[in-house]
Amino acid sequence: MYNLDGRSALVTGGAVGIGRRIATRLAEEGCDVAIIDIDITGAEETADAIVRIGRRCMVLSADIGDFAEVQAAVGEMRARYGKIDIVSNNAAVVSVGSVMELAAEEWRRVFRINADGAFHICKAVVPHMVERRFGRIINTASWFGKIGKPNYAAYSASKFAVIGLTQSLAAELAPLGVTVNAVCPGTIVGTRMRDDADRKSVEQGLPTARERESLIPIGRVGVPDDIARVVAFLASDESSYMTGQSINVTGGLWMH
Ligand SMILES: NC(=O)c1ccc[n+]([C@@H]2O[C@H](COP(=O)([O-])OP(=O)(O)OC[C@H]3O[C@@H](n4cnc5c(N)ncnc54)[C@H](O)[C@@H]3O)[C@@H](O)[C@H]2O)c1
Repeated sequence: MYNLDGRSALVTGGAVGIGRRIATRLAEEGCDVAIIDIDITGAEETADAIVRIGRRCMVLSADIGDFAEVQAAVGEMRARYGKIDIVSNNAAVVSVGSVMELAAEEWRRVFRINADGAFHICKAVVPHMVERRFGRIINTASWFGKIGKPNYAAYSASKFAVIGLTQSLAAELAPLGVTVNAVCPGTIVGTRMRDDADRKSVEQGLPTARERESLIPIGRVGVPDDIARVVAFLASDESSYMTGQSINVTGGLWMH
């Protein structure tokens, strides 16, 4: 455990999947949590779990692709909790399909949420963190943010963008007490995104996550807790000398 007692954490996409586990894990570590999501029903379920852990949780309805909505939500969190110590920029969407079939609108949709969304959250919280000379930003990229794979051009390019944002912002904020790192999950099951990607893979005659499991050196697919544990570390004082890093959490599937 990393003892995050008294810290307040913002988690985007905390309604389901990896984001839900990040939110509950940070609560177990002692954080009050705010969730930004478009799935309010799911976010309320996560909030109930956090209240059962004994921490506060507020649910904020906002589309991260819309900067005005993000600013309003971040303002509400600051008004309620007084501060934002930790941000897990986790919400994203996936798109599966070859470049020849990919509509320009679909490319834009993925970038609007995955790349613009991460930027919007950072832009909204950074002035506050710099003012307090403290902050931990953890962006969720992907191993596809380090290597392009067929049928994932928009998603992969948007995750390369998240890693670029992480590195540039980390260098800007390093002297100001704010660290910025990324986690790069591998194949994580038990999430809506994974179920959607598997369904599309089947439609296109491609293997599912479980069918690719033998390629993972550790020998199993990942689960949301594998990612949440690393996010908790990056949110803690134990990682205070790390910034600008993009940490693979892939069971050894990707090592660069
Ligand atoms: N599952 C995997 O195998 C895997 C692998 C690599 C990276 N990732 C990354 O991990 C993160 C979480 O993935 P997951 O599998 O849990 O996804 P998920 O689809 O299960 O959950 C995504 C969450 O983001 C929310 N969201 C989507 N669009 C939003 C928007 N515009 N504004 C606010 N919220 C929005 C959804 O409502 C949902 O709660 C993502 O960044 C994803 O790219 C996942």
